[in-house]
Amino acid sequence: MDYAIVLAAGEGTRMKSGRHKVLHEVCGRPLIEYSIDLARAAGVERPIVVIGDKAEQIRGHLGESAVYARQDFEKGYGTGAAACAAEGFLNDDSGLCFLMAGDAPMFKPESLLALRRAVEGGAAAAALLAEMEKPFGYGRAILRGDRLVDIVEEAAASEEQRRIHLVNVSLYCVKTALLKAAMQRLKPHPPKNELYLTDIVPILTKMGEVVRAVTCAEEDALGVNDRLQLARAQAAMQGRILEEQMRAGVTIIDPANTYIDFGVEIGADTVIYPGCLLQKGTKIGPNCTILQNCRIAGSILEEGVRVESSTLLEAHVGAGSTVGPNAHLRPGAVIGPKCRIGDFVEIKNSNIGAGTKISHLTYVGDADLGEGVNLGCGVVFSNYDGKAHLRSRVGDRAFIGCNVNLVAPVVVGEEAYIGAGSTITQDVEPGALAIARERQRSIPGWVEKRKKQGKL
Ligand code: UD1
Ligand code: CA
Repeated sequence: MDYAIVLAAGEGTRMKSGRHKVLHEVCGRPLIEYSIDLARAAGVERPIVVIGDKAEQIRGHLGESAVYARQDFEKGYGTGAAACAAEGFLNDDSGLCFLMAGDAPMFKPESLLALRRAVEGGAAAAALLAEMEKPFGYGRAILRGDRLVDIVEEAAASEEQRRIHLVNVSLYCVKTALLKAAMQRLKPHPPKNELYLTDIVPILTKMGEVVRAVTCAEEDALGVNDRLQLARAQAAMQGRILEEQMRAGVTIIDPANTYIDFGVEIGADTVIYPGCLLQKGTKIGPNCTILQNCRIAGSILEEGVRVESSTLLEAHVGAGSTVGPNAHLRPGAVIGPKCRIGDFVEIKNSNIGAGTKISHLTYVGDADLGEGVNLGCGVVFSNYDGKAHLRSRVGDRAFIGCNVNLVAPVVVGEEAYIGAGSTITQDVEPGALAIARERQRSIPGWVEKRKKQGKL
């Protein structure tokens, strides 16, 4: 059996945050989830997450998807101490163990596979390294021939070693039995008496074992210790996501001004215009047009939908429908196919049948509308009586005039007509015309009369 240990016990003080560092998000996803995924991609179903500081936040977030080892800071600090905290879980000595930090979202599964190959090819361990333009702060890799023999931390490095640009990026694969043996031999480093996980490299070498180096791109190794690095990781991950979308057939007019979360699905030949934010849980079908400045979160858009300058939250839009500009679809808005949802229309927790038109300045809340319904400008579903939300229903092909209030709960029958300006408080039978407004009257010569009285 193989294992993966994800180190996430450190305080992350440089984030200056109430939230644990690994729960900060990159492209709509907490950092730690990228590590969990990586472990899965490497064949480990439930990684061991080492927790310490703000442990309950991490547990609360990951739940059953991981097992947890608690680092006892009384026993020691440092990456080595963190790894040792997980030792109790390593019951099966026959396989290998991945170790990684929980704060680096960009690693690729290929890198873990390369590490695995090196170990399965006979090495005791393999470490991932990257050539960094600015290696300051990283552990420098000391190679002898094709073997990695040591990793020297910045503070302990000689002048000459500081000039090395090949650095440790904290992703390792080790034979489990040898990892346990090396852990026993870790010694604290002054001044803080930390145990360094990197010391397993010289320890294994001294035991006569071979440690291999595998390299990755500098970008893959981006770690997050502060908000600046968080922004850098965000930009790098965003670039990767956009590239994948474009390669899969999505047109992105201006990648520098488009924000797509991890896991968002978009069909081929869909075009995304500048200023769009496509967030977690969104699925967009093929041949859609997402015009400028849309925020779409947790929503499903079927084929051929067109949206402009609108906000869609947990909404569903059927094939061929158009939304916006400036529409607001709130949770539970389910729009059928070939509908027209126009400007300044807000829809919440409502079902809208096929071909229905709601073109302007309308609020639909807690309602079920049939097919081919037409709502005029300024229709309001009065769905809230101050205590409860009440549902209304409008039958197929009903025609609701402009500036109508439908006071819930009310049922408008099929093909009924409602006169403009009506406030409807009672059900309207199918095929009827309902008018609920005062009849117009005119008073001829009224203005002239008032003027004579000096009142105008
Ligand atoms: C580590 C490596 C260094 C490498 C760098 C970047 C060591 C000694 N050094 O340094 O060679 O170049 O990462 O990849 O390993 N953690 C715990 N408990 C602790 C301390 C840390 O769980 O007591 C966790 C942190 O939450 C973090 C990870 O270990 O996820 C890395 O710790 P960090 O302090 O960032 O290590 P670096 O000093 O950056
Ligand atoms: Ca770090």
